[in-house]
Amino acid sequence: KKTLDDIDVKGKKVLVRCDFNVPIQDGRITDENRLTQALPTIEKLTADGAKVILCSHMGKPKGKPDPALSLAPVAKRLSEMLGKEVVFAADDEVVGEMARKAVAAMKEGDVVLLENTRFRPEEEKNEDTFSKELASLADVFVNDAFGTAHRAHCSTAGVAKFMETSVIGYLMEKEIMFLGNALENPVRPFAAILGGSKVSSKLSVIEKLLDKVDILIIGGGMSYTFAKAEGKEIGKSLVEDDYLEYAKKMVEKAKQKGVKLYLPVDVVVTKEYAENAPSRVIEKSMDKDEMGMDIGPKTRELFTQAIRDAKTVLWNGPMGVFEMKPFAAGTESIAKALSEMDAITIIGGGDSAAAVNQMGYGDKMTHISTGGGASLEFLEGRVLPGISAVNEK
Ligand code: 3PG
Repeated sequence: KKTLDDIDVKGKKVLVRCDFNVPIQDGRITDENRLTQALPTIEKLTADGAKVILCSHMGKPKGKPDPALSLAPVAKRLSEMLGKEVVFAADDEVVGEMARKAVAAMKEGDVVLLENTRFRPEEEKNEDTFSKELASLADVFVNDAFGTAHRAHCSTAGVAKFMETSVIGYLMEKEIMFLGNALENPVRPFAAILGGSKVSSKLSVIEKLLDKVDILIIGGGMSYTFAKAEGKEIGKSLVEDDYLEYAKKMVEKAKQKGVKLYLPVDVVVTKEYAENAPSRVIEKSMDKDEMGMDIGPKTRELFTQAIRDAKTVLWNGPMGVFEMKPFAAGTESIAKALSEMDAITIIGGGDSAAAVNQMGYGDKMTHISTGGGASLEFLEGRVLPGISAVNEK
């Protein structure tokens, strides 16, 4: 794919699709990873004398303007981070009078941010009307929204059809490099750690990774489906009964492929899904009225030892209910182990990225993906429309 480095942008209007879909609480952005990682592309373009028009979605406003999902807080924070004003074009119709005027007034190196692209009903349907409007604002399209690359929307894919020049940005390039290299050309031993609540959302990833890794660790909510498939009593723990056979098949596939597969050997259980619920550690079967909340101390030891000599580690999904302090130890032990390793450590977005940042290990990782769903689909080996649409002409 052509990148920013392949084009000359001086004096040109450049529309950049970013993923600024960041969590906001009481008007404050609580996780800035997506903003921080968007900066290199924006800074390169402004330094090269482009007129930079940024756009993104936020949340799911369902095609209607929603003040609670305005990108105004993003414009404010980006201005601080870039050390220059990001002019916010607060048009509910995204490409409206304010946007056009703001763009017409731009000088080289200026930055404008459009309003939430999902305020337009056409956006998620990828309808040409809105794609053409977006394209009419600029000379060049840069897609840097890896986090939204699995969506074929106007601002991620459709717009590229109406632009002479479209390229990928530095963040997109970096994500493809780290996730792609892990899959195609990993430094070995290569270990993957999968957790999170659902086996079903990670079916294809598990299967795909079994073809690639040397070590596979499965913890967190999805491990109870594997435990039940092994005949263990898992009480009221999360389980997907439709996937018991699948879990058995994966254990079998790991054997055939010579992949070392690790599952929890002890679990922290409670009778209630609550932070202050009394807990105990069990090794074999839990009682019928108990549920798993975290991996136990022996499992923490087992998992961290298992990855000790790995040279590439890919981690997606927490080991327990880390949002509740008493059940965060499993997730934290993995984050800490990864932070101390002399290896390529890649955090595959979503909850595990949030956990790593919250726990203060963010800057010790090689790469924290800005994609949740997008990084999973990428790891499944699927074609992402936001990447394939770029540079098709
Ligand atoms: C994400 O947070 O995963 C991306 O921004 C995509 O958002 P979506 O799931 O609402 O399309």
